[in-house]
Amino acid sequence: MAELPDARTLPLDETTRAALAERGLEYRLIENERAAIMDAWSHAVRRGFAGPELSDDEIAEWREPMSWRRVTGVYDLSTPQAERPVATASSWVAPMTVPGGVLPSWSISTITVAATHRRRGVARALLEAELRDAHAAGVPAAGLTASEATIYGRYGFAPATRIATWKVDTRRARWAGPDASGRVQYLDREDAARLMGDLHERTLPHRVGEIPGWPRRWRGRVALAEDKSAAVRTVRYVDAAGEPRGVMAYSVEGDPEDDGRGVLRIRYLIAEHDEALAALWRFAIEHDLVGTVVAPMRPVDEPLPWFVDDARVPVSRQKDHGWLRILDVPAALEARAYAAPASFTMRVTDPLGYADGIWRVDIADGKATVATADAAPDLELSVIELSAVYLGGFSLAVLRAAGRVSGSTETVDAVDAALRVPRAPFLSIVY
Ligand SMILES: CC(C)(COP(=O)(O)OP(=O)(O)OC[C@H]1O[C@@H](n2cnc3c(N)ncnc32)[C@H](O)[C@@H]1OP(=O)(O)O)[C@@H](O)C(=O)NCCC(=O)NCCS
Repeated sequence: MAELPDARTLPLDETTRAALAERGLEYRLIENERAAIMDAWSHAVRRGFAGPELSDDEIAEWREPMSWRRVTGVYDLSTPQAERPVATASSWVAPMTVPGGVLPSWSISTITVAATHRRRGVARALLEAELRDAHAAGVPAAGLTASEATIYGRYGFAPATRIATWKVDTRRARWAGPDASGRVQYLDREDAARLMGDLHERTLPHRVGEIPGWPRRWRGRVALAEDKSAAVRTVRYVDAAGEPRGVMAYSVEGDPEDDGRGVLRIRYLIAEHDEALAALWRFAIEHDLVGTVVAPMRPVDEPLPWFVDDARVPVSRQKDHGWLRILDVPAALEARAYAAPASFTMRVTDPLGYADGIWRVDIADGKATVATADAAPDLELSVIELSAVYLGGFSLAVLRAAGRVSGSTETVDAVDAALRVPRAPFLSIVY
């Protein structure tokens, strides 16, 4: 793949700078190598998410992941804390795994607007600038994870990957999954964080929807970053040849309601092979003094119901997680591989214009060719639906049933067959 653009090199978006200036606000690119400026920005982000003041340790943990991002802030110089921005944003270009390749994705993070400046269009100004920047840099899509599902549809984003919180009543769960030939072993949290990073990079190409991680992400999973909870333990799985293939961070909290048994909470679990996944789940489910296992942020297609003899025991609650916004229809559709041939025209509407048009799509030998067309479209949808189905996590048939897409059953079925992926798209990172 061609080298990804460095988001930090883009100038400040002039349209947003002028729009905010009219409201007496200053839009600035943050010099993230200047600690005082960067630290005030980090405090603003924490305040924006309604959290307590960051400690010095936490501030230090923030510096590395911000050093490679493009960081912007909006300042209101009339406030007593004028050094703290009243709105924040950061972004970088990440290679998102798609079937058969990667899609450069403008990853948007830390969008906050101070409670004192909300609902005056500041977030809209920031988001529109991010999308213009991404488009100007030739990046075909943008991605984010959302605090609320109602915020980003208006900018053309759609939920494209989902996550599940799984819950298992261990008294009713008897292991019926495979017997692993390797072993589960405790390891130090620092070592576990490093192993998480290694395994994430190794598994990345196989999970549609994932993006690369960064060291603080794993330090957070093992409670070495913001929440330094001593209750967190870490184990790894080594295969019969002694190779580490999986790692899990978890804590066990007492449950006064449950007669001495506690809740084992899986903070993070990553497995390179099926055997490692089964072994780590078995470790959790069969843990002594535990009545319930809870695992948030897991794939919706976790094989858990097949691991135990009563498939009704593992229950899951799903929610949207990775949001995607296609900006360049030909580049995005041509970046992924397809499971079946299809030929169709589609009209895509996009309130911000980037994906607007009638497109002819020809899929043969697993690859798509896309060109503009001047014909009656077989499919009609907006950029939201196109972004929702792009990774294969949702089907056009379901969106048509919801009144969001129009097209014949024949076309919808053919396109769904082409988009199909064997495992549910999954993003394990919150950003
Ligand atoms: C969410 C947040 C960034 C919105 O900022 P804002 O400056 O108030 O948003 P804007 O005034 O630009 O609103 C733009 C549009 O989004 C809508 N909107 C804003 N916040 C919304 C929310 N939380 N839920 C639903 N809609 C929202 C507005 O009503 C407006 O709608 P319109 O385009 O139909 O008029 C801000 O409330 C915030 O910082 N919240 C806490 C941190 C957070 O959740 N950040 C998002 C991280 S993913």
